[in-house]
Amino acid sequence: MQDKKQKIITILGARPQFIKAAAVSAVFKNSVNEILVHTGQHYDSNMSEVFFEELDIPKPKYHLNVGSGSHGAMTGAMLTAIEAILVEEKPDFVLVYGDTNSTLAGALAASKLLIPVIHVEAGLRSFNKVMPEEQNRILTDHVSELLFVPTQTAVDNLKNEGITKGVHLVGDVMYDGILHFAKIAQEKSTILRDLNLEEKQFMLCTIHRAENTNDIQRLKAIFAGLNDSGQKIVLPLHPRTLKYVKEYGIEVSENISIIEPIGYLDMVRLEASAKKILTDSGGVQKEAFFLGIPCITLRDETEWVETIENGWNRLVGADSAKIQEAVLNFNPTENRIDYFGNGTSVEQMVQVIKSFQKKTIEIIRVTS
Ligand code: UD1
Ligand code: UDP
Repeated sequence: MQDKKQKIITILGARPQFIKAAAVSAVFKNSVNEILVHTGQHYDSNMSEVFFEELDIPKPKYHLNVGSGSHGAMTGAMLTAIEAILVEEKPDFVLVYGDTNSTLAGALAASKLLIPVIHVEAGLRSFNKVMPEEQNRILTDHVSELLFVPTQTAVDNLKNEGITKGVHLVGDVMYDGILHFAKIAQEKSTILRDLNLEEKQFMLCTIHRAENTNDIQRLKAIFAGLNDSGQKIVLPLHPRTLKYVKEYGIEVSENISIIEPIGYLDMVRLEASAKKILTDSGGVQKEAFFLGIPCITLRDETEWVETIENGWNRLVGADSAKIQEAVLNFNPTENRIDYFGNGTSVEQMVQVIKSFQKKTIEIIRVTS
């Protein structure tokens, strides 16, 4: 009997996309015929392979090996390779996550071939077009047919740009994911023991955003704030940041433990056990909120404005005095509001995708 499941090609390539895919692909495997294309944007084993192994993400059928390089070169090489795959595979949909160069390449390749694009985590805006991510998000949203949106703010952002069709507020797939994996992390991760850490006796930090790493003044100021905080800080460092720390000759004090990037289960275990989290990551800001850990955000703006409004996130930019002040005095106590859904966003997505096909079939019947 012929497989009647819809065929979805999912394009992914960067760490946060593997984590989103872990939640999505687990549900998709019973409902749709999903094929993964790994662009190779992230390629170190601790930036890629580790997630496929420990989170049981299906093995990609295609690997494009397009890692590093300038934005244009990277996006262009991905676009060419993805187009060839789409022509061959003829999927019903192409699914992309978030706002990386892999997202834009996948969306553009599909849209030019008139294949409906599904954008997961649509509608986010920082209103800072200097960020490559902001350019990627805006362009992707404007060529997408189904926009799965995590928050009401994101719905409003899309409406302000005239996008109302195909928008579905389903909640955040990363919330679905953490509900599942936090328990497993608690049972399986040995990271606290491995690093000789005690619950709530350390702070966790991540830094990778281009606006921080590529600006010597900002990166120096952030490290000055961390160095002088007087706190034990664990810093799993993105390879891009490590490169710049060395290149700029930035001083790192003894209170900071720089470690290699870690797997998701270890990361969630560290997040849940940290006294506070300092980060410029989008995903880590949300995870801090999900877990009820105060988040100090090393950026001037954020897409996740709800976490600020609810009092659990504070923007400190790259200002060493503000970093130190927040490390000492930022102690939120407000009840957290469930802005990010109820952990069923992937099931909701599946229902929408199925009814989208029904509509298409009806249209074909009427017109044929
Ligand atoms: C990318 C995304 C960013 C996302 C981040 C998640 C874009 C424009 N940026 O930023 O939105 O938040 O991923 O982590 O898509 N590198 C390695 N090994 C790797 C991966 C990267 O050494 O496995 C180094 C290389 O020097 C590379 C640099 O990091 O040139 C930057 O990688 P890239 O994927 O371009 O950007 P990210 O900073 O990772
Ligand atoms: N993460 C991880 N190991 C690390 C650092 C981050 O597993 O060493 C996870 C983190 O828990 C979150 C995701 O990676 O789920 C966020 O990715 P990143 O910060 O690279 O990108 P962003 O979310 O800013 O796009």
